[in-house]
Amino acid sequence: SEIELTVLPEVDSTNREVAKRLSTAIGNTPVVLAEAQTAGRGRRGRPWSSPKGENLYMSLGISLAGGFQALEGLSLVLGVAVARALEEVGANPIGLKWPNDLYAFGKKLGGILVEIQGELQEGRVQVIAGIGLNVHMTRAESVDQPWTSLALAWDREDWRRSQIAAAMLAEISSSIRKFEEEGFAPFREQWQARDVFQDKPLTARDGDLSGLGGGIDAAGNYLVIKGDEFIAVKAGDISLRVQ
Ligand code: BTN
Repeated sequence: SEIELTVLPEVDSTNREVAKRLSTAIGNTPVVLAEAQTAGRGRRGRPWSSPKGENLYMSLGISLAGGFQALEGLSLVLGVAVARALEEVGANPIGLKWPNDLYAFGKKLGGILVEIQGELQEGRVQVIAGIGLNVHMTRAESVDQPWTSLALAWDREDWRRSQIAAAMLAEISSSIRKFEEEGFAPFREQWQARDVFQDKPLTARDGDLSGLGGGIDAAGNYLVIKGDEFIAVKAGDISLRVQ
């Protein structure tokens, strides 16, 4: 399907904007980029710091075959696709924190918010995927975790947001095609190679489970190593234990 690209100077949230466009779109893939967001959203209801002109805020509408079971895999596939795009444009290496936070040198560089729109129709589900990437940002208010930006992490100022967005769209569309045809399996290794938690102490299930990072299983669940046991974690935040 054809990409329908819109670039806005300011919007509440590019995810909301794509949701509006998805309901009227026929077959096309709406993509919305904004210079600033007044109500940028993160996962778990958190706000997403979205100052003007410094970062990348992009959302796209995806019509996905395979229903709701496919969604968990999709989150991880998107993380891999975005990481690959960033590495292609020189932001290498990118780390992934389960399910799909983007990391550089141990700090959060960006995140992906996946939301479902509407009902399952003819075996397809409409998904809105929003990507937030810190590009030129060197200071931020009210960010509740260690963060970085492309400029800070690689000490370079010549990042071009249009080039980054184009690389992301290309990687995302080819990854989604592959995911629909072959499922999650071809992505497991690529996700795992970027796992920021591998062999590191972590807690999951809001602190109830602690162990070492053990990568992901074939379905994309995160595995926590406790003694000689692997425990699969589906939902809930995983956070590195503060030492
Ligand atoms: C996270 O919590 O890590 C996910 C952050 C996702 C932020 C992006 S910015 C573009 C899109 N629009 C939003 O309101 N959120 C996503």
